[in-house]
Amino acid sequence: MTDIILLGPPGAGKGTQARRLVEDRGMVQLSTGDMLREARKSGTEMGRKVAAVMDSGGLVTDEIVIGLIEEKLRGATGAGFIFDGFPRTLAQADALGALLGRLGRRLDAVIEMRVDDAALVARISGRYSCPDCGAVYHDETRPTRVAGKCDDCGSENLVRRADDNAESLKTRLMEYYKKTAPLIGYYYHAGDLFSVDGLAAIDEVAGAIANILDQSRVA
Ligand code: AP5
Repeated sequence: MTDIILLGPPGAGKGTQARRLVEDRGMVQLSTGDMLREARKSGTEMGRKVAAVMDSGGLVTDEIVIGLIEEKLRGATGAGFIFDGFPRTLAQADALGALLGRLGRRLDAVIEMRVDDAALVARISGRYSCPDCGAVYHDETRPTRVAGKCDDCGSENLVRRADDNAESLKTRLMEYYKKTAPLIGYYYHAGDLFSVDGLAAIDEVAGAIANILDQSRVA
């Protein structure tokens, strides 16, 4: 059982690497962004509130997000969890530690994906994805083999996210530096922090993460 966090700003490549770990190691991806995108489709009052916050680039309340993760973890088993986009605040980090403790599990590694803001703008503005299977693409660095068709599941419903625009990205980055970046110090002092160069090519980043999982105490 290996439970890890992928930590990094919007566009760092967390989702891309999480999918690789699911394919390569059979781990379970827990993306709060995906859970919230699902919740906003519900059309409920809560879904509408979530949609407005996400589109503005702000963070959804700790209460809602921790509730979603708690629900997913209830009775969960598996080769290991990849927390993707969670935790994003110190309160979420404390809650995750407590939730894992109750399940008799603990975090094995927190992998910080280091990137610079200029690269993030280029990544976010070129991103599109498949809503049917979750595959993530990019106009320049990872286009689909056939234009408009998902390589993995053949879907032709490829979409761009409503929050992938310059205005929202500015807010998302500010939220990251104010509320999420302090988690780097938090997990460093807990002895759980590892870092990878998120600016490297996708395969190289995947190799660096694999090395951490294989060579550290989490092997
Ligand atoms: P979320 O869905 O988590 O978005 P995010 O953290 O902003 O991260 P992204 O999905 O934008 O980026 P990523 O790091 O996964 O990069 P990707 O792999 O796609 O959250 C969305 C919103 O939901 C938040 O703003 C907030 O409102 C809310 N929310 C979610 N969780 C929350 C929480 N815990 N608390 C409160 N609110 C929460 O890659 C990006 C692009 O780059 C892709 O096109 C990809 O192909 C390309 N790429 C990836 N890696 C590389 C590489 N190495 N080289 C070149 N290109 C690359």
